[in-house]
Amino acid sequence: MNPLSVKLRRLSLNNPILVASGTFGYAREMTAYVDFPALGGIIPKTVTPAPRAGNPPPRTVETASGMLNSIGLDNDGFDQFVAEKLPYLASLGTAVIVNIAAKTNDEFLRMAQVLNAAEGVAAVELNISCPNVSGGVDFGTNPELAADVVRTVCSAGPLPVIAKLTPNVTSVIPIAQAVADAGADAVSLINTFQGMAIDWKKRQPVLGNVLGGLSGPAIKPLALRIVWQVAQAVDIPIIGIGGIQCLDDVMEFLVAGASAVQIGTANFYNPQLSSQLVTELTDVLQQEGVSQISELVGTLTLPDRGN
Ligand code: SIN
Repeated sequence: MNPLSVKLRRLSLNNPILVASGTFGYAREMTAYVDFPALGGIIPKTVTPAPRAGNPPPRTVETASGMLNSIGLDNDGFDQFVAEKLPYLASLGTAVIVNIAAKTNDEFLRMAQVLNAAEGVAAVELNISCPNVSGGVDFGTNPELAADVVRTVCSAGPLPVIAKLTPNVTSVIPIAQAVADAGADAVSLINTFQGMAIDWKKRQPVLGNVLGGLSGPAIKPLALRIVWQVAQAVDIPIIGIGGIQCLDDVMEFLVAGASAVQIGTANFYNPQLSSQLVTELTDVLQQEGVSQISELVGTLTLPDRGN
């Protein structure tokens, strides 16, 4: 058995290293740099039912140990994705997890039905957590709405369903519990933290849309905390996301309770990182004396406080 293989309920992956939506385009732009079959999977940029022009520029700004983005789900629309981008993605020899966002359950259903009938889709990731569009987090901040959309997408066919959740709530646990109960195969934890950059000399926000989503190493401790808390409370596989830039970061997420991870912001400065991490993971299994990566998941032990 492949020692790096991962099972997220109905979704099987060759290894736990995925590339995060919005950081890898639709893979074409990475062709010269990345050994696609080495990856656990690719999650292309979110697609929506109709094309979207996205938010006004500037849309990104570098911050201390991270970046803010306010892209606004710029994309060419679902039909164009299926006709022109999906065939290329499906030819790459790795799992393709299609990330979708919509404003209604009916729109989610229609896209999920088409994806269930399409060739080469491994799973659907629901973006119910985008902080940069009006209504983008409505589904993801309300347990009932989040559960409804998961149930709706599950009803479209057998494709595994992953819910990508927002950290911009008091607690992610009730939302994760709701989507688990509704049949989700996994949760992706987490999308970006809402933030802001200011040019004080101009007395203006830097981003055209004023607010944006913070990602990168700055958020790793926050993401680890959420992964760990959800892993303690909810019985659902977790895909950890948040500032991963080296093997130790991957291992921290696995030990905290993630079964797989997504590499995001690091793709912008090192598109080869993900495939490098796969190689390094194989070595770490030998060093740790384990035969399966899953043996390391959730192995965090807490200090004994003697009370
Ligand atoms: C965006 O397109 O604004 C980013 C996507 C997201 O944060 O979900």
